[in-house]
Amino acid sequence: MDDIPLAPLNEGPRGRSPAGAPRPGHHGPGSFQEPPRRSFFYQALTALIGGIVGLAPLAAGVAVYLDPLRRKKTAASAVPVTSLDRIPDATSADAYVGLYKITANRQDAWNQYPNEPVGAVYLVVPKGTKEVKALNATCPHLGCFVDLQQSDKGYTFKCPCHTSAFHGDGSRIMPCVSPRDMDELKCDVVERNGRFDVSVVFENFQPGLEEKKPKT
Ligand code: FES
Repeated sequence: MDDIPLAPLNEGPRGRSPAGAPRPGHHGPGSFQEPPRRSFFYQALTALIGGIVGLAPLAAGVAVYLDPLRRKKTAASAVPVTSLDRIPDATSADAYVGLYKITANRQDAWNQYPNEPVGAVYLVVPKGTKEVKALNATCPHLGCFVDLQQSDKGYTFKCPCHTSAFHGDGSRIMPCVSPRDMDELKCDVVERNGRFDVSVVFENFQPGLEEKKPKT
């Protein structure tokens, strides 16, 4: 006769307590509850995905708002200043020197400002010529406005702030605290309908540096 294995006295059928009640973690036939740790993982994952989906429109809005700041500054363009026939004869022994304000359509990251004053240039025309040279009137030392000093003997430029002085061609008169000569600008004379227009590619440069570095 075969031996019949006996269940231990303190253990009932599988999945049931000795009294027939469901074991911890079991809730009877047909019912299923995830273990607490897995449930927490799903809740955290759902919250994370919800957060990402919710942040996407916000991030897009911020990107659109900041977009103008990310765009590169466009290159300086030529600004009409005067015409050759309006430039008078030499005002000193060796040249005509005149001061011209420069206005331009300025634009910052979000707004446009038409015809804003952006600086000034000295136009220099050596006596007996039609060659025009343009010097930025801002001192390269710390950005003060450079004065013109002229007499029968000639002309020079002088900065009232820290006494930097410059020859008529914009080069420094030593000793000089300015780290570089006056900033020369590209100047063009273009014929238009029989008139010779003088235009300048106007730029301001960073003060206090030896090299000409455009302001951003
Ligand atoms: S700003 Fe011109 S000398 Fe200092």
